[in-house]
This record gives sequence, structure tokens and C-alpha cells, in this order.
Amino acid sequence: MVILKLPEEIEKARASNRIVAEVLSKLKEKVKPGVTTRELDRFAEEIAEKRGAKPAFKGYRGYPYALCTSINQEVVHGMPSARVLKEGDIIGLDFGVCYRGFFGDATITLPVGKVAAGALRLMEVTEQSLYAGIAQAKEGNRLGDISAAVQMTVEAAGFSVVRDFVGHGIGKNLHEEPQIPNFGKKGRGVELKSGMILAIEPMVNQGDYKVIVLSDGWTVVTEDGKLSAHFEHSIAITEHGPEILSKLS
Ligand code: MF3
Ligand code: CO
Repeated sequence: MVILKLPEEIEKARASNRIVAEVLSKLKEKVKPGVTTRELDRFAEEIAEKRGAKPAFKGYRGYPYALCTSINQEVVHGMPSARVLKEGDIIGLDFGVCYRGFFGDATITLPVGKVAAGALRLMEVTEQSLYAGIAQAKEGNRLGDISAAVQMTVEAAGFSVVRDFVGHGIGKNLHEEPQIPNFGKKGRGVELKSGMILAIEPMVNQGDYKVIVLSDGWTVVTEDGKLSAHFEHSIAITEHGPEILSKLS
């Protein structure tokens, strides 16, 4: 069952996503050659704490960090470590908080210094596919309209969408119904209604869509070792259309 939110609940989701967006904006300035992913994790957690928010991922199903840091062929759930970022890497930063009972969740992928043109293109198309999906998030449409828009944008550019991980409803829980695949057919799936809050999160591979989970139990990588990018926004469906709650300022 998809939980519809009241206006005052959407206001709370706005507040928690505002903190997520602030953290990601500040991380953007920290990402450069020489920084470790552990430093990024610490920094994210500190800002959240200062705002009175609780990192949403830490402790979630035993995940040990506040931030997910997925580098190059890592698709999602890369774990912060002593690894040093180097020029030419791309890094996905996925962050969530719980603030006054409501969750916020968003992801950006960033270049580290100067990166290859193909990597830039992958990031650009992935972000575009997120916005194409968001544009379909309006009353009267169906979930499949979001999925199909994401998939079309990605595949038209010659990239592939990851099948094994999906977006999700979000609210008083980090993950709620519905699941939001990044592939599907227009006109299918649940009807979209105002009051829904959705975390739409395309994960896009340069090569094949197949992924594997490493033996740490978390890190998801592309099977072919090629690059992957990830963008995510939490959005509310309103009577005036989609509102991006986690927009970076
Ligand atoms: N944005 C991801 C999600 O919504 C982050 C989850 S990481 C986890 O699933 F550690 F919390 F699992
Ligand atoms: Co998410």
C-alpha cells in the first residue's frame, strides 16, 4: 500500500530533504583528488548532527556508515574507507537523514578533477534520465510512465539501466511502497496521486546492466567493470505537479 502524505507531512519531508541537499552541496566542494571517502563520510555525518538530523543509512540493515561512496565501476552502496580519490575518478554520493520523524534521500555523482569525456557523458545522461522520470511524476500518470521515461533517456544514449536496484516510496520509513524500477512500460503500474513522496534513483551503466555484489556484502559493481553513475531525488507529487524536495541550492 502506498502511503499518501498530508501537507504538514510533506512539509516535514521538505525539511529533512533540505538537510540532505545541504550536505550534498557541501560535499561537492570537498570532492577533489587526495580526499578519502572516510573524510567525506565524517563530514556528512557532522553536518547532519549539527542540524539535529540522524543519518538514515547508518545501522540500516547493518550498514556501518552515514554515506555511500561508489567509485567508478561501483554502482551503489560503496563503503567509505581510507581510499584516496584520484583525478579521473567519478564518485556517487548517496546520503539520507531522518529529521523529526521524516526521511530524506538523494544522490549525486561527481567528477574528481578532470575526467574522461565518456564519464562526463554518462553522468550527464543519468541526471537527465532522473529529470525525465520526475517530469512524469504527476497525478493521473502511472508508475510505469516514470520508469519508461528513465529507460528511454538512458537507452537512447547507448547506456543501460541497472535492474537489480530500484527507487522507492519514502516518508516515515526510508523505504516504502511503491518500488520504482528504472525500466518499464508506459501506462502500467499504480496510479500516481498527489501526496505521494517518491525517491527516484536511476543507476546507469556504461556497458551491460548486469551487476554483482562484492564479498563485503554491500558494494555493488558492474559485472563488466565499466563505469556506473547514480542520481537520486526525493520528490512529492502535488496537484501542481512534481516538487523536488532534495533540490541542491
Ligand atoms: N539511497 C539508497 C536507498 O535508498 C541508500 C541505501 S544505503 C543503505 O536504498 F545502507 F541504507 F542501505
Ligand atoms: Co534511495
